[in-house]
Amino acid sequence: MKNRETEATWAYHDGTKHSYRSVHTNPHYLDWENQPIPFKIYSKLDPIPLRQQLSSSGMPALTAIAAITALGDGSVRPTSQTLAEILFLSAGVTKRRSYPGGEMLFRAAACTGALYHIDLYLACGQLDDLEAGVYHFGPHDFALRRLRQGDHRAVLVRASGRESSIVNAPAILVCASTYWRNAWKYQARAYRHCFWDNGTILANLLAAASSRQLPAKVVVGFVDAAVSELLGLDAKREAPLSLVALGQESPSGVGLPPSIEPLELETVPLSKSEIDYPAMRAMHEASSLENEEKVAAWRGEAPRKGPSTKLRAGGGWKDEGGKEARLFPLQPLGDDEIPQDKIEEVVIRRGSTRQFARESITFAQLSTMIDRATRGIPADFLIPAESLNDLYLILHAVDDIPPGAYYFRRDKRALELLKEGDFRREAGNLGLGQEIPADCSVNVYFLADLNRALARFGNRGYHAAQLEASILGGKLYLAAYAQRLGASGLTFFDDEVTEFFSPHAAGKSVMFLIALGKSVKKRGLNVI
Ligand SMILES: Cc1cc2nc3c(=O)[nH]c(=O)nc-3n(C[C@H](O)[C@H](O)[C@H](O)COP(=O)(O)O)c2cc1C
Repeated sequence: MKNRETEATWAYHDGTKHSYRSVHTNPHYLDWENQPIPFKIYSKLDPIPLRQQLSSSGMPALTAIAAITALGDGSVRPTSQTLAEILFLSAGVTKRRSYPGGEMLFRAAACTGALYHIDLYLACGQLDDLEAGVYHFGPHDFALRRLRQGDHRAVLVRASGRESSIVNAPAILVCASTYWRNAWKYQARAYRHCFWDNGTILANLLAAASSRQLPAKVVVGFVDAAVSELLGLDAKREAPLSLVALGQESPSGVGLPPSIEPLELETVPLSKSEIDYPAMRAMHEASSLENEEKVAAWRGEAPRKGPSTKLRAGGGWKDEGGKEARLFPLQPLGDDEIPQDKIEEVVIRRGSTRQFARESITFAQLSTMIDRATRGIPADFLIPAESLNDLYLILHAVDDIPPGAYYFRRDKRALELLKEGDFRREAGNLGLGQEIPADCSVNVYFLADLNRALARFGNRGYHAAQLEASILGGKLYLAAYAQRLGASGLTFFDDEVTEFFSPHAAGKSVMFLIALGKSVKKRGLNVI
């Protein structure tokens, strides 16, 4: 059973770490003549335009990112209007910028290099004026294209090992990457970016759904080959990453899976030629789940005793001098104090800060971001109140809190000071020598005990750990912009980050990094 052979994850993860040496000796260069287009365009399918009129949910963004719509007794079906809004707020084109060589289309969620390699697909039963079918969402013309006619949800029900939210969902979204669109720039590290860039989309998607009182759940356990086949993905170049169950109805609506004919749908070539990165395919294969029974067992598996890294206990940690830990309990704004900017405004306003102002933010602002982002994610790989990732922070400038390195104590909802000091230079170095991590107010690093995740979920635990971190990161993006602050995802030197936070973080692996603070108001187009 390949999923249990977890050396594959370590081979991929270690093999795609950034170090000073790997970055500075990599002969790779950007071949602009061969840059892939950032869209999947089906040449011969007619567009089914989605409604352009976006209505406001009226829900403040800071409420929406923290809310989880509980499953009730009744049925909740998305309308095609709601679906259009959710697709727009997750992956739609929100900004256009002209530059001498053409025009750049920016999307609702942040994406490494603005390369937008993640596509959204929809499988649904009959929904008001949308026929049952399997569709692809095209952000370039804000339209669906029908890949298959008729209700195919039963294929996803089976593929998910009959996961309950999928069984009951009137509509299921599937997120998938076309590797080359990102690997063109990032080479084999792009498999990490699959989850990073899917996670930011999912953060928006969950907030958009909860603001519309639509239950939504992220599912990462499924038979990869069955989902690929349903969508007609090219298994060597594309991979399904996550499913999202949307809404709730009686499961009797889903019949037997129809027979699946192979799809041979022409798409516009992405670029003149493509480069294959076997390390990505190997990692995907090693983390794939093979059949329905294995998926069900995977989800139900009791935690195994793995070679889990010996980590420091969360509580009562003493610093190197043996002193009791200094805790700073979060001081988040209450529901009646939070900025009221609606989720729709915030998604449209969101961008990545290209330059931070080296100004301080308040502890209430930071607390509100952390508090709202960490109230839970509805996902098949998470038990409420449990998390695969820990938050480590470097605070440069937060009012009333000494600058230094911190650990977020979930149990106490407090920041624990690990070491005090001005670490702007170090943070800049850890973020590949960029100015953003040195100039922002706070860097938030998500670190996972990968041995623990792999012991529990096999190689698939890598998807879960990366995705959880990036959904949290995506929520922080929104929580920053909801308070009119700035944010930017960042890449990093892996081992150096762990070392910086050690001994506390020894044995953990960095999954995601985001910088938070105040933006300098001008906006450039550097897309690193
Ligand atoms: C995971 C992640 C890592 C990123 N890393 C960097 C980075 O290292 N440096 C940088 O300037 N921008 C970085 N970005 C920002 C992207 O370049 C940005 O999201 C993209 O250009 C789209 O622009 P927008 O976020 O303003 O819509 C990152 C974004 C994400 C989601």
